[in-house]
Amino acid sequence: MKPGDPKAINELFDRVAPSYDLLNDLLSFGMHRIWKRKLLKWLEPAKGENWIDLCCGTGDLAFLLAKKVCPGGSVLGIDSALQPLVFAEKRSTKKTSLKISWLQLDALDTGLDSNQFDGVVMAYGLRNLVSPFDGLREIHRLLKPGAKAGILDFKRQVEGSFGYRFQKFYLKNIVVPVAANSGLKAEYAYLETSLRGFPAPEDQQRLGLDAGFAESKYYSLAAGQMGALLLRA
Ligand SMILES: C[S@@+](CC[C@H](N)C(=O)[O-])C[C@H]1O[C@@H](n2cnc3c(N)ncnc32)[C@H](O)[C@@H]1O
Repeated sequence: MKPGDPKAINELFDRVAPSYDLLNDLLSFGMHRIWKRKLLKWLEPAKGENWIDLCCGTGDLAFLLAKKVCPGGSVLGIDSALQPLVFAEKRSTKKTSLKISWLQLDALDTGLDSNQFDGVVMAYGLRNLVSPFDGLREIHRLLKPGAKAGILDFKRQVEGSFGYRFQKFYLKNIVVPVAANSGLKAEYAYLETSLRGFPAPEDQQRLGLDAGFAESKYYSLAAGQMGALLLRA
C-alpha cells in the first residue's frame, strides 16, 4: 500500500487500533512517550488554551496536552479513522477532569473555522497524508496569528548513511517481525513505504514556510531517528 489512498489508510488504522498502544510501547521501547513530552516542552501549551491533536489515533498526545491546558482549556482530537477514536473515547471516560473531544475528520480539510486555535500538534500523521503540504496549510488556517504547531515523526534519513541503514534494519528486523506476532505484518511494513516519500527535514522546513508559517524549524530527536517540525503562524 502507498500513502495517498485515504480509504486504504483508514482501513489500515482501523485494523491496527486494538494493538496500536501496545505495539507503540514495544516497538519504541516506551520512548514515544518521551518524544511526545519533548514536543510539548518545546511548544509550551498553557492553561486555558485550546489545542488540536491532528491524526490523534488512540489519543496519547491529546491526553498529555490536555494535562497542560486544563483546567480552562480544551483539546480536540481529530482522526479520519473511526476505530482509533473509539479507543480514545473509551480512555477519556476515565479522565473526566480533562476537557477533550474527538471528531472523525480529514486533517486535510477539517471544515473547522479559521484562526481559532492556540496550537496544533500532530504525531506520526504527516507521513500518512496524501499531501503533507496541504496538511500544513490546513494547520496554518486553523491557528490564530502567532500560534504554534509541532509535527513529530520519523526522520527521513539520507540514503546510504549510517542512520539510513539503522532505520532500515530496525524497520525490517524489529518492527515488522514484532507486528507480525499480532497479525499486522503488512500494516507495519507500510511504515517503510510511507517514509520513502516523506519530505526530508530541510524540505519540511521549506514546506512550512510555503504553507504560510512565519517560522518553520526542524529539530532532531532520538539520535536523529525522529524529528519535530516546529512552526509559528
Ligand atoms: C501512526 S498513527 C499516529 C497516532 C497518534 N498521533 C500517535 O502518535 O500515537 C497515524 C494516525 O493518522 C490518522 N490519519 C491518517 N490520515 C489522516 C487524515 N487524512 N486525516 C486525519 N487522520 C489521519 C490515522 O487514522 C492514524 O490514526
